[in-house]
Amino acid sequence: MSENVVGKEILRLENISKIYGRNKKEAAELAHKGLKKDEIKQKTGATLALHDINLSINQGEVFVIIGLSGSGKSTLVRFINKLHEPSTGKILYEGKDILTLSKKDMIAFRRDKVSMVFQHFGLMSHRNVIDNVAYGLEVRGIDKEIRYAKAREMLHLVGLGDIEEQTIDSCSGGMKQRIGLARALASDSEVLLMDEPFSALDPLVRKEMQFELLTIQRRLKKTIVFITHDMDEAFKLGDRVAILREGRLVQVSTPQFMITNPADDYVKTFIESADKTKVVSVSQIMQTPTCVVRLTDGSARALTQMRLNGVSSAYVVNQQMKLQGIVTAKDALDASASKKLVADFMLQDVPTVDIDAIIADILPIAVSAPYPMAVIEDGVLRGIVTKASVISTML
Ligand SMILES: Nc1ncnc2c1ncn2[C@@H]1O[C@H](COP(=O)(O)OP(=O)(O)O)[C@@H](O)[C@H]1O
Ligand SMILES: [Mg+2]
Repeated sequence: MSENVVGKEILRLENISKIYGRNKKEAAELAHKGLKKDEIKQKTGATLALHDINLSINQGEVFVIIGLSGSGKSTLVRFINKLHEPSTGKILYEGKDILTLSKKDMIAFRRDKVSMVFQHFGLMSHRNVIDNVAYGLEVRGIDKEIRYAKAREMLHLVGLGDIEEQTIDSCSGGMKQRIGLARALASDSEVLLMDEPFSALDPLVRKEMQFELLTIQRRLKKTIVFITHDMDEAFKLGDRVAILREGRLVQVSTPQFMITNPADDYVKTFIESADKTKVVSVSQIMQTPTCVVRLTDGSARALTQMRLNGVSSAYVVNQQMKLQGIVTAKDALDASASKKLVADFMLQDVPTVDIDAIIADILPIAVSAPYPMAVIEDGVLRGIVTKASVISTML
């Protein structure tokens, strides 16, 4: 089965291995023979952190690396901006091996191309909010006016428009997370490396931040390498997900592909550990809205459309495909005598769900929705979700 991969390759990791400790050569040989991390440790005393990792990351995707604690996630992500160096292998950024960059080029690379977002985002408490967000641009020597404008834009993006002058200390934990995210985004680097950025958050704030990140990502289309040990988070955020097990890559694929074609029992167990309703998103189960009518259509046309499609309700959209309401067959029939237009008798109270929502989030609407739910992306009707398809994800 093939997969859809958007964007051209921006990062490529080739034959990356890392061994810590003594007897590296012997350990490497054993790794090539297929011995496991603990067997190698026992025989040589060395720690096999990573073995023969090959990965290709595309521009504009959220690439999630998931694995249990100690599986090598942090080691791997630190190689991408050369915070550490692998024992063997190459890291190519747009085809160029970053391990060969000079010190000066490396500084520019970290500033412009790949930046690391740490768990606590490294906010500076002696600076106010806007100066924290604008920090990345400041070190690049960008004019105050320009960097403030950019920082303001990013603060608005994360829902914090009016706190620029506040001190960091006066901000809540959730706000700090958002400020950190705004700062990472303002720096404008091509690739963001995020090593378990949300792991320390309480579940509610964490959910909000995931939503925030997805919303922003839809607009900015950054390349994000996101590390997590949480399968729900991986599937929610990742365009593609890579599973690391004891330093080895087990599978790299889209969440959907992984769910339907787990590479082995380990992956299967990992997937089962996730709550399906928290893993599957609306976009994965929605259907194309076949029965759509315009505000200016008459009741007769609405009825014909419903009959042709074998349904008893139709969604109403404007010229831009923005959702306006819903008409039912009964209302259309009642209206047919008076030759009313759809706009005159449609119902505006429509059950809608966001295209990025996960099934768990839409369950309350799904249970009570009298019609299929309209799937919305920026106000535009993108699909419909039936109660049946929601229930089938829970089986
Ligand atoms: N500086 C180091 N020295 C020795 N062993 C290390 C070092 N850093 C990481 N390791 C080991 O490498 C393995 C991978 O660690 P890490 O990349 O931090 O995993 P993860 O981020 O997935 O929890 C672990 O077994 C860890 O103990
Ligand atoms: Mg780690």
